[in-house]
Amino acid sequence: MRPGQAFRQLLRSRSGLARRSLASSALALGTLLVLGCVPGAERREASAPPRWTSRAIPEAKGEIKEVDGQRVQIRYKDEVFSAITTNFERWPTYSYNDTRKFPPPNRTPMPAVKGDPRRGRELFMSRQKAPCTGCHLIPGDDVWPAGSVGPDLSVIGDRRLPDQYLFDFVWDARVFLPNPTMPPWGTSGILSPEETVHIVAFLQTLKGNPPFVPPPEKDPTRNPHTRPRVDRYWGDELDPANNPAILLAESGLAVWSAKGPSGKACADCHEGGLEKAMKGVATQYPKYLPAYRRVMSIEDYLTVHAPERTGQEMLAQSPAHLAMAILIKMQSNGMPVSVDVTSREARAAYERGRAVYYRRVGQRNHACADCHDPDRGAGRYAGARVLSVVQTGLTRHFPVWLTIPRAIWNIRTRFQFCMLPLGTNYLAADAAEYADLELYLTAFDNGKPMTVPGIR
Ligand code: HEC
Ligand code: HEC
Ligand code: HEC
Repeated sequence: MRPGQAFRQLLRSRSGLARRSLASSALALGTLLVLGCVPGAERREASAPPRWTSRAIPEAKGEIKEVDGQRVQIRYKDEVFSAITTNFERWPTYSYNDTRKFPPPNRTPMPAVKGDPRRGRELFMSRQKAPCTGCHLIPGDDVWPAGSVGPDLSVIGDRRLPDQYLFDFVWDARVFLPNPTMPPWGTSGILSPEETVHIVAFLQTLKGNPPFVPPPEKDPTRNPHTRPRVDRYWGDELDPANNPAILLAESGLAVWSAKGPSGKACADCHEGGLEKAMKGVATQYPKYLPAYRRVMSIEDYLTVHAPERTGQEMLAQSPAHLAMAILIKMQSNGMPVSVDVTSREARAAYERGRAVYYRRVGQRNHACADCHDPDRGAGRYAGARVLSVVQTGLTRHFPVWLTIPRAIWNIRTRFQFCMLPLGTNYLAADAAEYADLELYLTAFDNGKPMTVPGIR
């Protein structure tokens, strides 16, 4: 399917739900503002998405290998990554070569077991399952941190919904809705039919007294709908005494003036020092580069440009690579992002990136949009975290210093990390798919000042 077709189909399927139609016209308006012309008016044949051989460190390549008789994806050793070891290779990924589809909407017979509400509550809370509380509030002091991406279920039992309906809805909500945000828990294999029966039995016990009135809240922070929104304060992000990423990036200064095997250093060809040579450069990336026939971020470009010009590899996600990208981007701080999304190739990549953003992948059949579009999860709590809104711009502060796990992440590390809760293996950090996706996201940052490195 061509990206243009995919997007038109998307608009059709999204406009199916009345409560979403307003937001999808906001989306269309956003697109108009970004592109500055009517979408589709100037659509020409897009060039084929590029194939790319990764030049990343081994754990950033997304490779699957057999280790001790088990197939695993080689991932970062970082503790937040190593917490999810499952190999999701059964499920669709974002790769342009991956044509697999998630199974279609599906019902299954409700088994004739007696539902046990106590077991149902355990399953509802279980971190090994959804957890359902990541998106839904239910009563109980032990419910922390509940999220608000889905409706409050505290009194759902008062609605006297048929068991069969709740069963089918939890099993696969796509049977009722064209484009639900909630994953199809049964079809994905996360809940068994019996487990779903127990959950339904539990949901039916959730009643108010009087009906429809949830129990009073002792702690307003327990309830994600009343939890106070406190803006996190990180201090001055660009103060080296405050942001460890700046100190680490300074190690890149040595790389800038070190001669590689070719006898040349960055400094030999780029005159006037980093400040002068790289001023404003990063505001235009990701950018379509004809020599490589693909869109590249500064990070992607360094992986090919450094070895070509200095003879020294600069593998994606290596310490020197991260440091150099930060140093280059810092020379654009305060300057407005201005990526091209109008030239023919850039526009084609932008549309591919948009299709990636809305594409459903993984065991959970999730799209980025489920968590980052304001008509879906964005602006609400996923567990304890407020989900960022895509239109505010998610890219101009990357790479960032992450206070947990105390590491520098560039945006590709962030993409790769967002893959795992979707139940999909990640792609190589320098994949063309991610570059197209990054271009789509960066277009929302156009006109806004860069502040690298951020803190989160
Ligand atoms: C990623 C967030 C998310 C998770 C996790 C989640 N849900 Fe949902 N749920 C939603 C959303 C959003 C809706 C509203 C329909 C939609 O857009 O998908 C919903 C709707 C529902 C409804 C229908 C509510 C109504 O008012 O009709 C039920 C029942 C439900 N979810 C149960 C569950 C159960 C059980 C689990 C755990 C197995 C779960 N949910 C996990 C997001 C989530
Ligand atoms: C032998 C000369 C040479 C060396 C060494 C060299 N570059 Fe370059 N660089 C160039 C040229 C020439 C260009 C313009 C694009 C092109 O022709 O490839 C460029 C372009 C760039 C750009 C993109 C500029 C823009 O405006 O889009 C960046 C970023 C960059 N170089 C960074 C580096 C870094 C970092 C190093 C060291 C690892 C380095 N270069 C080493 C010659 C060099
Ligand atoms: C199941 C929910 C979920 C999905 C789906 C998801 N993310 Fe995220 N994402 C999060 C959470 C949670 C955070 C951390 C809180 C925040 O900043 O939104 C986050 C943060 C981010 C950030 C950093 C924002 C910032 O300003 O620091 C980016 C960028 C991002 N996600 C991109 C993506 C992309 C691209 C996809 C699709 C490939 C995606 N996410 C899919 C949950 C999700």
